[in-house]
Amino acid sequence: MNDGVLLDVRNLDVFIGESHILQNVSFQVREGGITGLLGRNGVGKTTTLRGILGLVRRTGSVTLAGDELTALDVPQVVRRGVGYVPEDRDVFGGLTVDENLRLAERPGSPLRYELVYDLFPELRTRGAQRAGTLSGGQQQMVALARALLNADNRILLIDEPTKGLAPLVVGLVTNALKRAAEVATILLVEQNLAVAHKLVRDVIVLDQGQVGFIGNVEQLMGDPALARKHLGVAHG
Ligand SMILES: Nc1ncnc2c1ncn2[C@@H]1O[C@H](COP(=O)(O)OP(=O)(O)O)[C@@H](O)[C@H]1O
Ligand SMILES: [Mg+2]
Repeated sequence: MNDGVLLDVRNLDVFIGESHILQNVSFQVREGGITGLLGRNGVGKTTTLRGILGLVRRTGSVTLAGDELTALDVPQVVRRGVGYVPEDRDVFGGLTVDENLRLAERPGSPLRYELVYDLFPELRTRGAQRAGTLSGGQQQMVALARALLNADNRILLIDEPTKGLAPLVVGLVTNALKRAAEVATILLVEQNLAVAHKLVRDVIVLDQGQVGFIGNVEQLMGDPALARKHLGVAHG
């Protein structure tokens, strides 16, 4: 492992059917803080996260703290400490909030219930409520809490956590991610550029299945032409 690199993705290729969805994608995620995986719709951000986990067939190399993940199946990757909050949140609607959180428990793993309830006090008061009856924002809190809860998770892959949420809830989730990044390394897909700008340090931008830009967030957001080229919008 070299200079604080936690996750090293090298030459990742994904084919789905005949389509070459990811083409030779390489990037690194430094330990600690939030790295942003950005880019327009359909460029391959979700597929990259799924490729890291092994949810899609891929070639290339993915190492976590030097351990090769590509030979492992998804449960093994998860046990190595890769937490995932998918775009569709994956909350179990028929289970209570408490039961959903308990799904994060793995034998021997320390749990961060205090942090989670501090970030999302509602999850404590709504512990007995069925998750399917929660608002979208509350379900997102459950999904994030589940990934954060397990203190053995070394990296969290979080896909568009603020999508479709009301502005007030976007603020809440943004603050929670900021605090979460103090205790975990996060690879964040975020389409809300104001949120990304607030949270992210290093940035990888995908463009049509390939890496289009790697740098820091100020370089990208501070250059309207660059931001427009890669993101389709300039963000002030
Ligand atoms: N299961 C699938 N079957 C066919 N095409 C897919 C599948 N998943 C993703 N794709 C295609 O791969 C490309 C990248 O998708 P995705 O990774 O979801 O992009 P993003 O998350 O950046 O919006 C898109 O063109 C999408 O249509
Ligand atoms: Mg996506």
